[in-house]
Amino acid sequence: MVTRANRIHGAYGMTNESSVEKITIGLADMQIRMLAPRDKEDSGSRISFWWGITSAAVVLARHIESHCEDFYGRRVIELGCGLGLTGIAAGLAGANVLFTDYVSQALEFAERNALLNGLEQGAFDTGILDWENPGPLQEFDVALGSEIVYDYFFHGSLIRLVRQILKPHGTILLADRKRLCVSRFIGRMISAGFNCEETTHKLVLGGFPDQEISIFALTMS
Ligand SMILES: C[S@@+](CC[C@H](N)C(=O)[O-])C[C@H]1O[C@@H](n2cnc3c(N)ncnc32)[C@H](O)[C@@H]1O
Repeated sequence: MVTRANRIHGAYGMTNESSVEKITIGLADMQIRMLAPRDKEDSGSRISFWWGITSAAVVLARHIESHCEDFYGRRVIELGCGLGLTGIAAGLAGANVLFTDYVSQALEFAERNALLNGLEQGAFDTGILDWENPGPLQEFDVALGSEIVYDYFFHGSLIRLVRQILKPHGTILLADRKRLCVSRFIGRMISAGFNCEETTHKLVLGGFPDQEISIFALTMS
């Protein structure tokens, strides 16, 4: 995995502020400020949607805020972090966070967003991580993933990766809409030996239809 220490920054041209929009995400007690690219498109052949903030990420960030004691002092990895919302919520709860994605521009935004919200340099890191070819990794107490199981092609590699990176009794929190790819993934995780607890949450955002988002807490048994 390539981490911030040995990665070249600036591919996105973050000095050009007109290419960036500001979004505020309201949690129960605090607000998280996010920068996002105005140009919302994927480069290359892979469809990644790194440039958006999903409803699942908003719901998972709110969940983290309301369970902040579960994150204080923990080692947390965010998989497919995109702009980094849920990792930032974990960092604000006192976790040490590694933001990961296979899109380097996403990591530039995640880093800048983490700093914007007051996370200190030593309390987080960013690293390129491709689920298909993760390389050696440390172990984590908690992994976070919002809207990351949409492509069946990656299910096998994600399951192998989660088994590799979680400490014994570690947990991955997955948030997503109710859809077939999600229930298939959860079924495979349970077959692979994970215990699963699901909670459902209604997300009401002005101007959008209400959405039902599930959070799956999957723990290695
Ligand atoms: C739908 S976006 C979700 C972004 C963010 N988690 C959120 O909910 O706002 C999916 C993210 O997973 C990342 N991703 C997809 N396939 C990946 C892979 N094979 N390895 C690493 N990251 C991947 C994408 O680059 C993107 O940032």
